[in-house]
Amino acid sequence: VALRRWRPGDAAALAAAWADPEIGRHASVPAGPPAEAAARWIGGAGLRAATGVSVDLVVGPPDGDEVWGEVGVARLRLRVPTGGAGPPERVVWDTGWWAAAAHRRRGVATAAVRLLVGWAAGEAGLVPLVARIPPGHRASEAVAARAGFARRGRWDATHDLWLRPDPTPGPGRGAV
Ligand SMILES: CC(C)(COP(=O)(O)OP(=O)(O)OC[C@H]1O[C@@H](n2cnc3c(N)ncnc32)[C@H](O)[C@@H]1OP(=O)(O)O)[C@@H](O)C(=O)NCCC(=O)NCCS
Repeated sequence: VALRRWRPGDAAALAAAWADPEIGRHASVPAGPPAEAAARWIGGAGLRAATGVSVDLVVGPPDGDEVWGEVGVARLRLRVPTGGAGPPERVVWDTGWWAAAAHRRRGVATAAVRLLVGWAAGEAGLVPLVARIPPGHRASEAVAARAGFARRGRWDATHDLWLRPDPTPGPGRGAV
């Protein structure tokens, strides 16, 4: 698989994916007519990346325009109890993914998430990486584990928090 930026011509594929209840249950699908919402979301991807909000990428074949899935990392600011020592907030990078129904169980998500985290935790320095996964979501748990995430505990009523430990601590880096 390959990762690439979203293009205007991907709007129909994105709208179709958002209409899949399996994907809609986990993704934040914008309101409005699906094709227009997808086009607007794609149109905003460049600014979201440039301003450090999120990096959202298409998963597809190395050549061609097909959309097999999506991976992304989004900035998440956590308030952490420090007892007065250290900064009270910590930025983590929330990793998300989906594969279009026709492309599931072929290793697409596993390969794509591995590619994403290799880039994010490597040259991009987007660490630490976390993922929020509903407990018992076996497919997503398998994808996360294969990309180096480990379950750290409950995040909220419906999600576990998974963390990918950063092996290269340094300024701005480190574990949660
Ligand atoms: C979760 C999801 C991304 C997995 O994508 P995928 O490309 O099918 O995943 P992979 O092919 O890399 O599968 C990884 C492993 O997950 C497990 N798996 C995949 N689908 C499964 C299923 N339906 N039931 C149980 N295990 C499953 C398998 O162990 C699989 O490996 P194997 O079949 O080779 O043994 C995909 O099912 C999806 O997009 N679901 C809807 C959206 C979603 O749930 N996103 C994640 C939110 S946390």
